[in-house]
Amino acid sequence: MNFDSGKESNDRLEQLIRTRRSVFPKSFTEEPIDDSLIEEMIAAANWAPTHRLTQPWRFVVIQGEARKRFAEFLLAYYDENTPEADRSEMKRKKTYDKPIRSQAIIAICMRRDPKQSVPEWEEVASVGAAVQNLWLTVHAHGLGGYWSSPGSIHAVGPFLGLEDDTRCLGYFYLGHHDQPLKEGVRDPWQEKVKWIKK
Ligand SMILES: Cc1cc2nc3c(=O)[nH]c(=O)nc-3n(C[C@H](O)[C@H](O)[C@H](O)COP(=O)(O)O)c2cc1C
Repeated sequence: MNFDSGKESNDRLEQLIRTRRSVFPKSFTEEPIDDSLIEEMIAAANWAPTHRLTQPWRFVVIQGEARKRFAEFLLAYYDENTPEADRSEMKRKKTYDKPIRSQAIIAICMRRDPKQSVPEWEEVASVGAAVQNLWLTVHAHGLGGYWSSPGSIHAVGPFLGLEDDTRCLGYFYLGHHDQPLKEGVRDPWQEKVKWIKK
């Protein structure tokens, strides 16, 4: 397969990368999402770079009625892990509402290569690259989402039916939204690079 490396195509790619934003469930509409879009997102994720082709990214898609069970799991986790004095009804409601307001939640998981042929950090890095592919695909379709990484990711394995060699690195909340995208905030890239030429 060839790639059109013309200026127009590069400009579009740069614009897509620059304008991708975290979009939160409070901005989501109730418009449903076709499974074909989720398949496209995961197919894009599957093209991430991966050392020794370990392909560590794994995804669990939570949709429909299962969102309610997931919301209940999150709420129970919050209640069990927050001292009573610190619990707030507002936080409880927010925790519960997030999956309900999303059309799908995609659990971002990492399967450790059984041969451990690469260090674990390389597997995590590879999953991060996969999520960027997924996220850009979401953005290209005009939908929104964000990567959430609360403490419950360390306890969600049984809910997701994960094997012992697989762990959850976050939840990607996904939905249509009707909000203008926020301006992105980044320090200048020039501050983050050092050139060595001699
Ligand atoms: C690994 C990872 C974990 C993240 N976890 C959270 C999170 O738990 N809560 C949250 O609000 N945002 C989370 N984010 C989203 C970042 O806050 C967001 O990407 C950042 O503020 C930059 O905004 P932008 O995505 O709109 O450019 C996470 C992002 C990454 C890459």
